Amino acid sequence: MLTMFDGIQNRLFAPMEYVVSIARTPWERHAYHRLRQQVFCNEQQIFMDDDYDEVDLTAIPIIATCYMAGMPDQIVGAVRIHESVPGIWHGSRLAVHAEHRKLGRIGAELIRMAVSTAHGLGARQFFAQVQEQNVLFFRRLHWKSLGVTTLHGLLHHDMEADLSRYPAHGRDQTWLLRPQPCPRQVA
Ligand SMILES: CC(C)(COP(=O)(O)OP(=O)(O)OC[C@H]1O[C@@H](n2cnc3c(N)ncnc32)[C@H](O)[C@@H]1OP(=O)(O)O)[C@@H](O)C(=O)NCCC(=O)NCCS
Repeated sequence: MLTMFDGIQNRLFAPMEYVVSIARTPWERHAYHRLRQQVFCNEQQIFMDDDYDEVDLTAIPIIATCYMAGMPDQIVGAVRIHESVPGIWHGSRLAVHAEHRKLGRIGAELIRMAVSTAHGLGARQFFAQVQEQNVLFFRRLHWKSLGVTTLHGLLHHDMEADLSRYPAHGRDQTWLLRPQPCPRQVA
């Protein structure tokens, strides 16, 4: 009988700590933009060289930082939130570094931080335009689809978060994540 480990079994090394926070320092903000560039320009090729736009002028950047030996090592997650009109908030540019996906619920925790922070700042509704392959992911996190739209040539869903599932908070930093291997036995 073999013992397999689900999720992180193929990694030679898996970081054990992630912190989700608002990006404040120049290092954090620089790495936040670099991660977005890696994901949305290099990987998904939605933008040519830079995905920066006018929303960035007012958006609040949120990051997931991987910690090594208690010290911040690498920014591995990003999302931004902004208010378009009073009480109406939006999330966009959600990205997790390819090597850290489906590992510590980083994407889910970024969404939680994004919506709960906006809720704490007075959001009455929170929306995002979600790529089709991620609609199920958002549905599981208590979002509903409002309809289909095309954005940057790709199919997206306009989605809205159920704010009752995202209690308002004004914390700067949350959730130290510790992904653990889940033993799974195979014959
Ligand atoms: C989408 C994305 C942010 C998800 O981040 P992630 O850190 O891998 O997600 P999590 O680990 O928090 O996933 C939480 C759960 O949802 C599942 N999940 C992750 N992505 C999913 C998807 N696209 N569809 C369905 N389920 C998904 C995970 O398996 C996990 O399930 P579990 O709780 O049963 O273990 C990441 O894949 C990514 O950055 N993709 C490229 C950029 C992108 O598509 N951005 C979003 C634009 S709308």
